[in-house]
Amino acid sequence: MTRDSFVAESCGEAGQKASLSGGGLSDFCYPTYFDLLADAHRRLEPRHYLEIGINEGHSLRLVGPDTRIVGVDPTPQVSDLNHSNWEIVPTTSEDFFRHHDVVGLLGGLVDLAFVDGLHQFEVALADVLSVERYAHARTVVLLHDVLPIDAVTSDRKRTTAIWSGDVWKVVALLRRYRPDLAVTTLDVEPTGMAVITGFGGLEATAPDQSWVQTGVEHFLAATYEDLCAMGIKETLSVVPGTARSFAECIDR
Ligand SMILES: C[S@@+](CC[C@H](N)C(=O)[O-])C[C@H]1O[C@@H](n2cnc3c(N)ncnc32)[C@H](O)[C@@H]1O
Repeated sequence: MTRDSFVAESCGEAGQKASLSGGGLSDFCYPTYFDLLADAHRRLEPRHYLEIGINEGHSLRLVGPDTRIVGVDPTPQVSDLNHSNWEIVPTTSEDFFRHHDVVGLLGGLVDLAFVDGLHQFEVALADVLSVERYAHARTVVLLHDVLPIDAVTSDRKRTTAIWSGDVWKVVALLRRYRPDLAVTTLDVEPTGMAVITGFGGLEATAPDQSWVQTGVEHFLAATYEDLCAMGIKETLSVVPGTARSFAECIDR
């Protein structure tokens, strides 16, 4: 099954679906990942929000007024933000996690993180595992660009405007090697968003990372065609990009 064949199945061709659950709560498809992000901020009301890869700050503008924002990007294009508590660290995520006081900058552990930096899977994987060092049991990590559209836009080299790169491999790896985490892909436009929960927090034993090198080597050459052969929906645990799906992810 390719991605095209289950997108319509997820949310219907109109892209919007209204339905009522038993409790009367309305469900709806997020039109894009921005709508999912906005809803994440509304529902979670994070005190400490970390964003890797901020570009022009479109996603930063969705953050609520009571949240402390730290954004990381080597070439940020944000000069101002209509928010009272934000800081941008102009560096790569690798440098940020190696040389900066993450908890000091945020004012506490990470409540919500949005990983949207370099779209090469080993870097995105390192970003998620680095965030984990500052996570607590209710931390939610959103990982962008995990549901590839086709071979060209999911190549490791960028040649198109929409570019997911091979970030999908992070989901495949975490699902294979980190069964303690809950990793689900929401089918939101344009290229999906993984919701990762189940972190142990600082008191927990440091997670085993002995699989990382082997896993990265194993997946390095994998292609979009390989993903299709493995089954996109099963490999990436794809669910409809709806408010109900998201609520199920964060209520676990
Ligand atoms: C897709 S854009 C982010 C878009 C933004 N999150 C949004 O939704 O509006 C990706 C950003 O990642 C940044 N980036 C590239 N390499 C990075 C790295 N190693 N660490 C952190 N950010 C990186 C780029 O400069 C770019 O601005």
